Amino acid sequence: MGSPSRFFLCFLPLAVVFCSAIEPPRPAAALPLTTDSRWIVDEAGRRVKLACLNWVSHLEPVVAEGLSKQPVDEISKKIAAMGFNCVRLTWPLYLATNESLANLTVRQSLQGLGLLESIAGFQAHNPSIVDLPLIKAFQAVVSSLGENKVMVILDNHISKPGWCCSSNDGNGFFGDIYFDPDVWLKGLAKMATLFKGTPFVVGMSLRNELRGPRQNVDDWYRYMQRGAEVVHAANPDVLVIISGLSFDKDFSFLSSRPLNLSFTKKLVFELHWYGFTDGSAWRTSNPNQVCGLALDNIRRSSGFLLDQGHPLFVSEFGVDQSGSNVNDNRYLSCFMAMAAELDLDWALWTLVGSYYLRGGVRGYDETYGIFSLNWGQPRNSSFLNRISVMQSPFQGPGLAQAKPHIVIFHPLTGLCIQRRTLFEPLKLGPCSGSEAWSYTPEKTLTIKGTYFCLQAVGLGKPAKLGVICTGASSRWQPISDSKMHLSTTLEDGTAVCLDIDPGSNVVFTNACKCLERDNMCDPASQWFKFVNTTLGTRSATRSIRFGSVLEFLGRKMLGGIL
Ligand SMILES: *[C@@H]1O[C@H](CO)[C@@H](O)[C@H](O)[C@H]1NC(C)=O
Ligand SMILES: *[C@@H]1O[C@H](CO)[C@@H](O)[C@H](O)[C@H]1NC(C)=O
Ligand SMILES: *[C@@H]1O[C@H](CO)[C@@H](O)[C@H](O)[C@H]1NC(C)=O
Ligand SMILES: *[C@@H]1O[C@H](CO)[C@@H](O)[C@H](O)[C@H]1NC(C)=O
Repeated sequence: MGSPSRFFLCFLPLAVVFCSAIEPPRPAAALPLTTDSRWIVDEAGRRVKLACLNWVSHLEPVVAEGLSKQPVDEISKKIAAMGFNCVRLTWPLYLATNESLANLTVRQSLQGLGLLESIAGFQAHNPSIVDLPLIKAFQAVVSSLGENKVMVILDNHISKPGWCCSSNDGNGFFGDIYFDPDVWLKGLAKMATLFKGTPFVVGMSLRNELRGPRQNVDDWYRYMQRGAEVVHAANPDVLVIISGLSFDKDFSFLSSRPLNLSFTKKLVFELHWYGFTDGSAWRTSNPNQVCGLALDNIRRSSGFLLDQGHPLFVSEFGVDQSGSNVNDNRYLSCFMAMAAELDLDWALWTLVGSYYLRGGVRGYDETYGIFSLNWGQPRNSSFLNRISVMQSPFQGPGLAQAKPHIVIFHPLTGLCIQRRTLFEPLKLGPCSGSEAWSYTPEKTLTIKGTYFCLQAVGLGKPAKLGVICTGASSRWQPISDSKMHLSTTLEDGTAVCLDIDPGSNVVFTNACKCLERDNMCDPASQWFKFVNTTLGTRSATRSIRFGSVLEFLGRKMLGGIL
């Protein structure tokens, strides 16, 4: 066992060196994109992580939402400034297949719906678009995104313009009243051709949320294969993005029968997952159980596609950002744990702060929207901060800055466990500035290249770093149905779980909570996830300076003594 003086030698340099995380600027992707096993990569073979917003353009007015509130260029600039690199832009099939519709001007379309206030707003903010035909207005929005280096995925969301999606809305599956497969194929070809040679249009979602009484696996193969071939033939640059059955939840049939396509390196599957996907289970049951079950389901019905070497793009997820929807709040921590662990590509529902008209309601306030009602600023900047951790990749081709290691991710805050100095307790901080941890076969959590391991010292006490890592209080085990509680045992045999002090973000050990199947209890402050990464750590980005040399010497001496 080390004496205090020996201990100090090792720690002292850490107290001296101050270093901050340096985020290397992300270079713009060289387009077009392709796939490299489960990753989406650019021309240089470097991973591009899609961090997108859904921008709705498929409702009755058939024009991108928000243009009566802000100039299109302002919106595009803000998307990029908020850290998103792409938009999933929705369009109704009839925009591509009904020329009389496509030829209506924005003004005529809004007028036809009696949306006079929207016309006035549109006129004020986007005078150059208000008298364009709808199809030209759509192109103008795409151009504005491209000028601001925001990539675009064109998503055929529905056939007949309007809010989507229900099982019996006639837009759900091939053969439904508004879903003629031949018309659909024509529309896909038209859009793919229209945006050929537009490099920042990087992908096309063939059809949103297949569903309803007609859905069946044979027609899925028949038509999705045709749709994919039609798009690829018209525009071989775009990623071909394919939905599953049952509202984009189910790809289980692909585990035994692959799609038969003439092309490679362009296929991506898209998955949707919301809190309400599981009804009100998050609110009415124990979140550990619901999260464990939901993740098992996703693994079986779509997660296996990653192992088969296909990218999986969560093209819709989202929550009520007011914080008052318990079901959504509980789901979001589980979602973020999955999205970080699997380092998924994603698109948040939604960019939209408010709609011209949704479900008959004018100026409908979108509580799931990243923008406020007037599209002026973020609806909830703490939500935006929390999800920003998912905007950067953790791993992937061409990105490695360090050897593979883990970070200890806390989904409730979107932060990771960091050490500061000897004299400060472990705290949450940005994952990009986290230490490189490893979880050893002995179940210790150690900081790579050091002798430090995470230890519990008492109930309600901050966790600390120690160097004697053989005791029970240094062994950590993921427990509970969610496998996200990190549990250990104190010297006196008490079981504790890693937790967070909400005020200071200091890492504590407390009694494990919500392990009983109690639906009133929210465990999320005790949820942690190990996330694999090869990105730079604080020690890797630290320059060789006096302090580093001291730390090195300290380690050597301690190593010699032990
Ligand atoms: C739509 O507009 C185009 C271009 O102005 C025109 O050639 C075409 O005839 C129009 N179609 C209909 C159905 O109005
Ligand atoms: C085409 O669009 C026009 C204008 O919205 C509409 O009146 C007409 O019914 C549409 N035609 C079809 C076949 O949907
Ligand atoms: C795949 O498609 C090609 C071209 O349409 C066809 O010749 C081949 O038989 C198909 N293979 C399978 C396994 O269905
Ligand atoms: C933002 O989200 C947080 C966390 O859910 C919530 O507590 C807060 O009230 C929200 N703020 C606004 C302005 O909606």
